[in-house]
Amino acid sequence: MSIRRRRLAGQRVIVTGASSGVGRATALELARRGAHVMATARRADRLKELAAAPAGAGSIIHEAGDICDPAFRDRLVATATDRLGGLDGVVAAAGGGAIGRFRDLTAETFARIIDLDLVAPAELVRRSLPHLAAGHDPVVVLVGSILGLHPLPLHGDYCAAKAALRSLAGTLRMELAADGIEVLLVNLGPTASEFWDALVVGQRPPWSRGRRMPADRAAAAIAAGMERRHREITPGWQAKGFAIAARFLPGLIDRVAGRHLRAAVDAAPVRKKP
Ligand SMILES: NC(=O)c1ccc[n+]([C@@H]2O[C@H](COP(=O)([O-])OP(=O)(O)OC[C@H]3O[C@@H](n4cnc5c(N)ncnc54)[C@H](OP(=O)(O)O)[C@@H]3O)[C@@H](O)[C@H]2O)c1
Repeated sequence: MSIRRRRLAGQRVIVTGASSGVGRATALELARRGAHVMATARRADRLKELAAAPAGAGSIIHEAGDICDPAFRDRLVATATDRLGGLDGVVAAAGGGAIGRFRDLTAETFARIIDLDLVAPAELVRRSLPHLAAGHDPVVVLVGSILGLHPLPLHGDYCAAKAALRSLAGTLRMELAADGIEVLLVNLGPTASEFWDALVVGQRPPWSRGRRMPADRAAAAIAAGMERRHREITPGWQAKGFAIAARFLPGLIDRVAGRHLRAAVDAAPVRKKP
């Protein structure tokens, strides 16, 4: 692996989840650093507005669609490589959660979360690999979560997806090294975005209103991680603290989180969306 910094200027990158939060901020940050971005999400109006925003030395084009639809993933990669003239990076930031006890959630919710948070980024990467292998200094960025390091109650589907995504990042990192493709896993902690308003199932829980890292700070950390060729980053002190506890004090997390989250939910029961 080269220790030379990756030059983001001129890189051609797909960014998913670009209509809000971390994906949107990352698309802007990469463009500001000179990258040419294909931004995607379902809300076309948001993408249009993003593409019109000042993009520094880079540029932003967009293609709207459902990242869980295999036909859309094919179209996205084909359109991106065609319009950008190739592909050097994929930032898989689209994602979403569900809240509730595992016994109260359904098989449909489980499948939907696994599809959105694991299958969609994995299959987008698989579809992109031939183009990345032919690209310049290519990189795959998987936006995971600190809940992929250690699970919490009431997030079972999401934690399972993000833990599996973390595992896949490890496999890909080793397999793709031969093709010169690097892999960056991002263990995000609490970040200001629309995440809690866009839950697939369940209502915004009380603990979602605590301190959160601004999305543009997370995006700057992602861009810096790409430039510095990091294999894994955990931006922010809250996320770093959780990662240390997950590694050295997992039993403490189980006890404190179990009690705290149960108490919060018992005080304000989480109901399923109709
Ligand atoms: N916010 C946090 O505290 C936090 C913590 C740890 C990890 N994360 C991870 O960070 C990533 C970004 O989330 P965020 O916090 O920025 O949340 P967000 O503001 O809700 O953004 C989620 C993005 O994903 C897109 N998306 C959702 N379902 C989609 C689908 N089926 N097809 C295409 N796009 C879809 C949304 O766009 P459309 O609705 O327009 O399709 C939106 O652009 C996610 O992977 C999330 O798991 C977030």
